[in-house]
Amino acid sequence: MPVDVLIGLQWGDEGKGKIVDVLAPTYDAVARFQGGPNAGHTLTFDGQKHVLHQVPSGIFHPHILNVVGNGVVLDPVVFRQELQKLTDRGVDYAHNLYISKKAQLILPSHRALDRISEEARGNTKIGSTLKGIGPTYSDKIGRVGLRVGHILLPDFEKRYREAVAHHASLAAPYGKALEIEPFEADFFAAVDFLRTLQLTDTEYLLNDLLTQGKRILAEGAQGSMLDVDFGTYPYVTSSSTIAAGACTGLGIAPRHIDKVYGITKAYCTRVGGGPFPTELTGEVGEQIRQAGREFGSTTGRPRRTGWIDLPALRYAIMLNGVTELHLMKADVLDAFAEIEVCTHYRTLDGEETPNLPDPGQLDQVTPVYQQLLGWYTDLTNVTEAAQFPKPLQDYLAFLEKELQVPITIVSVGPDRVSTLFR
Ligand code: IMP
Repeated sequence: MPVDVLIGLQWGDEGKGKIVDVLAPTYDAVARFQGGPNAGHTLTFDGQKHVLHQVPSGIFHPHILNVVGNGVVLDPVVFRQELQKLTDRGVDYAHNLYISKKAQLILPSHRALDRISEEARGNTKIGSTLKGIGPTYSDKIGRVGLRVGHILLPDFEKRYREAVAHHASLAAPYGKALEIEPFEADFFAAVDFLRTLQLTDTEYLLNDLLTQGKRILAEGAQGSMLDVDFGTYPYVTSSSTIAAGACTGLGIAPRHIDKVYGITKAYCTRVGGGPFPTELTGEVGEQIRQAGREFGSTTGRPRRTGWIDLPALRYAIMLNGVTELHLMKADVLDAFAEIEVCTHYRTLDGEETPNLPDPGQLDQVTPVYQQLLGWYTDLTNVTEAAQFPKPLQDYLAFLEKELQVPITIVSVGPDRVSTLFR
């Protein structure tokens, strides 16, 4: 069963890009199955930081095939800019980057609609990245979307105009015009560029690899608590971010899936609106934000921060069938003499539960914390898991007992080399 899936267990930004980068050399292909330019996967190596939005994180390894799957929504303009940056850094992707002809195209009018509908939400804003994700997935499900493969058809421009007319009719009740004219030249130039890339039926490509016994890593974006079905709806993204999404987002049968790597930080963050039970709005939250450099890699927004949330993690582990946990950014808690772990929630009627209530009630629960001793040591120079201080070993053992999944990787710094296997 040579497909492993890597997913975020929280509200995104767990450090998935870093782990894909570390694990990639043992795979033949890395494939993205959902999301789009709302993602920002950061990889740091050789003293340089790279942020990828739509390009799979295996791109820096020339022998790995990188696949943008059918479940992705692709913005050609952002994609072209990303690839230009890779070219500037000497990365050649001509031979190892493939894009599904069934992936959906994000148009400038999708972005405009995203902005218009978000503005209209007043004080119940989703906090969208405004990259056009929701409107593009709406068109896909509504069966009116444009696919990457459509750019190869002679009537693409006509189809584009029809889509824009449809979007203008959706914007009209808000009293707004789309105002996309300044972006259209760039869009069409990016579409021309997209035509020069390897556009194909990636479900065949991936299944052929499986037949040859090759290994594929499916790279998730966002996180399980942002899943359109199981996340904190409606404060979610518009795709299936959980492991099951890898099957529909790549055209791979469930029986091929083996390991599921669940990525979590040693604390929690979230960008945008929506409930966040363990959120810390005071000094401690700010300390975590600064130590963890918790500012969005796509939007630059300060992220909300809080203690690790085990009810939410248990839920995500269950949904994804996680077989291994990777604990990221442990070093961010170096300066804390004591660390809090939310083990349960107390509901309005005073009951303690290890589970997640309906998202509509999530802002009414009170987290129940257990205090653990902090390691209070600089972890960034630790080079082997065997050297972890005793309080960190105890913290890891506590999490493993509560979550019933082994923690096989602990990350203690941004660089590739600070990723320690246990
Ligand atoms: P959208 O997917 O841009 O519409 O945003 C919906 C929600 O998901 C907002 O709260 C965003 O902040 C959040 N979100 C989307 N992508 C990411 C991500 O890659 N990391 C963290 N949060 C994200």
